[in-house]
Amino acid sequence: MEQYVIKGGNPLVGEVEIGGAKNAALAILAASIMADETVTIDNLPDVRDINVLLEAIKGIGAIVDRLDAHTVKINGSTISGMSVDYEYIKKIRASYYLLGALLGKYKRAEVALPGGCDIGSRPIDLHLKGFRALGATVDIQHGLIAAQAEHLKGTHIYLDKVSVGATINIMMAAAMAEGKTIIENAAKEPHVVDVANFLNSMGAGIRGAGTDVIRIVGVEKLHKTEYSIIPDQIEAGTFMFAAAATRGDVTVKNVIPKHLEATTAKLLEVGCEVEEFDDAVRVVCAKRMHHTQVTTLPYPGFPTDMQPQMAVILGIAEGTSTVTESIFENRFKYVDELTRMGANIKVESNIAIITGVEGYTGARVSAPDLRAGAALVIAGLAAEGITIVDDIYYVERGYEHFEEKLASLGAQIEKVSSEKEIQKFTLKVS
Ligand code: EPZ
Repeated sequence: MEQYVIKGGNPLVGEVEIGGAKNAALAILAASIMADETVTIDNLPDVRDINVLLEAIKGIGAIVDRLDAHTVKINGSTISGMSVDYEYIKKIRASYYLLGALLGKYKRAEVALPGGCDIGSRPIDLHLKGFRALGATVDIQHGLIAAQAEHLKGTHIYLDKVSVGATINIMMAAAMAEGKTIIENAAKEPHVVDVANFLNSMGAGIRGAGTDVIRIVGVEKLHKTEYSIIPDQIEAGTFMFAAAATRGDVTVKNVIPKHLEATTAKLLEVGCEVEEFDDAVRVVCAKRMHHTQVTTLPYPGFPTDMQPQMAVILGIAEGTSTVTESIFENRFKYVDELTRMGANIKVESNIAIITGVEGYTGARVSAPDLRAGAALVIAGLAAEGITIVDDIYYVERGYEHFEEKLASLGAQIEKVSSEKEIQKFTLKVS
């Protein structure tokens, strides 16, 4: 297994290019099979989750032509099977987007029911409620979801909870249903808007994405398109927080500043300077940050995917802060790891009470999930001494060339896969 090994203490300084949004790309790749012509997608992040989903799309018979790390052509005309193997769902839950895409196009689909996840149980009842409302019969047997419909008929769907996945999955199925569909209490994330824009570029009739009411007029066919994925707001936020934690001066490039508003607001609250440009944001943090309160909320609130990173910078800020996780029920698993680096955090139900300490000390820690793993790397960059982060395949699910991008900003970090390499690194930096 591979690890990151880090010598902390270097302020991150310089510029870093942000890649395409993983959570937009996963849904857009699934939606691309809905045309019977070739769809070209670029600005794909070259990360594990994307590569697994492309394998799943190949697995149902679509033509997948990877032109380069960030560009792919997909043609869904050759799809032969409507059943997505369990192995793919086991690797990435987002394979369930193929349910909405296949049901919309072929009026039938079979996808394994995703299991639990590192951050919570993550049911998909709202997805299935939407499909049933559109007229599909949906059965769950032997761990498989089998959905089918004579035809899908547009309808009025109210989502009991704001759900990114349910909003996107239902939007895909409704895009090729007969008549009008209204989705109320829809998620407003930038990646929901990106998926709607992508489907519209294929000829769909979707209006209102980005608001809590999305109106869809179904069409019979979708056609070819060329599309570029929006920048990843969570990758951008992660680098902005790494700059703050190391008292650095970093400009994240190729971003949409509006998508970063909640993240930027918190950096300003804790005392960092943030400068916005058309497609870049600069973070300067010259002094110790101070405490604040954060609650994760659906967009445009503070993103749950930035919650571990927020806790890391508050862990070395002055004063006592609170971080309330309102989206997922088990997203504080990293706290025990961070405590081993000297953090003083108490978790009570869905609230972390953080008493800022002067600084972290390096330790051997293990990434419990994707965003927590990235947060532990940030802690290592700020820590005094050497930090080793195990289980970094979690981090590589959503961050492309993470250690290389950090090293280009002055971090002393390497990806290693043996104790010998760890010792070599430790000798080199001591
Ligand atoms: C997406 O997950 C993202 N994943 C998550 O990012 C992100 O944390 C989440 O949205 C919230 O922004 C992808 O886009 C692939 P939800 P998703 O449906 O769609 C409950 C990352 O780090 N719920 O908005 O699964 C659910 O349990 C990942 O990149 C139901 O109860 O999130 C949660 O409490 C982690 N029933 C809440 O809603 C349902 O049918 C929000 O979940 C669906 C969801």
